[in-house]
Amino acid sequence: MLGLLLSLVWVEGMQAQGKHPRSGRRIAQVMGAAGADWLERSERESEENPTRAIELLRFQKGMVVADVGAGSGYYSSRIAEKVGPTGKVYANDIQPEMIQILKRQMRLRQVTNVEPVLGTEQDPKLPAACCDLILMVDVYHEFSHPVEMLRKLRESLKDDGRLVLLEYRKEDPYVPIRPEHKMSLKEAKLEVEGEGFRLEKVMEDLPWQHILIFKKK
Ligand SMILES: C[S@@+](CC[C@H](N)C(=O)[O-])C[C@H]1O[C@@H](n2cnc3c(N)ncnc32)[C@H](O)[C@@H]1O
Repeated sequence: MLGLLLSLVWVEGMQAQGKHPRSGRRIAQVMGAAGADWLERSERESEENPTRAIELLRFQKGMVVADVGAGSGYYSSRIAEKVGPTGKVYANDIQPEMIQILKRQMRLRQVTNVEPVLGTEQDPKLPAACCDLILMVDVYHEFSHPVEMLRKLRESLKDDGRLVLLEYRKEDPYVPIRPEHKMSLKEAKLEVEGEGFRLEKVMEDLPWQHILIFKKK
């Protein structure tokens, strides 16, 4: 059912994106702005346990975080609360429609420490060395240019910062998401480590997703 939903909300006109040069993984199509309601669905808490994900990442007051591929800002607003007014969240996406939805959500939730950033498929347009943590929740598998994106994200990560991927577990056939929207641990490690990161920690506490924490090599 969820897999079906995802297929209905892909960005219109976008074609299959090809394969990753290192792993051969088939790159997924981008979820369109029509999928914003699905990102905000009330069952998300029980299905994916985002509250636990945020707890596990140990955000501190004053941290600067980038939520890359932020969509409607579901995670951005929750992280904004954790980092507080002395901290900041850059909420990046490539779809102007998603950025508009995100801005509306931030207004409704009276969140003032989220800065929306419209990026491109190859460049998230984040400042250099800005971030203590760069988060991608169900996003990396959609990057049409994963190599270029990771190179840019590496420049925006502080030297001791964390690059975090949440990805639906490809190893688990019971996770009800289309295969190209899932990633295996092996694929993620191969692809991300190839761009100057090392896998520091894997957390398997969530019902559907791997939490993968990378640091700069
Ligand atoms: C499945 S949604 C996830 C949204 C959000 N992270 C969440 O979990 O609620 C994937 C998002 O990634 C965005 N995206 C895809 N490729 C991107 C890229 N190269 N840079 C930034 N965002 C991208 C899409 O536009 C879409 O909003």
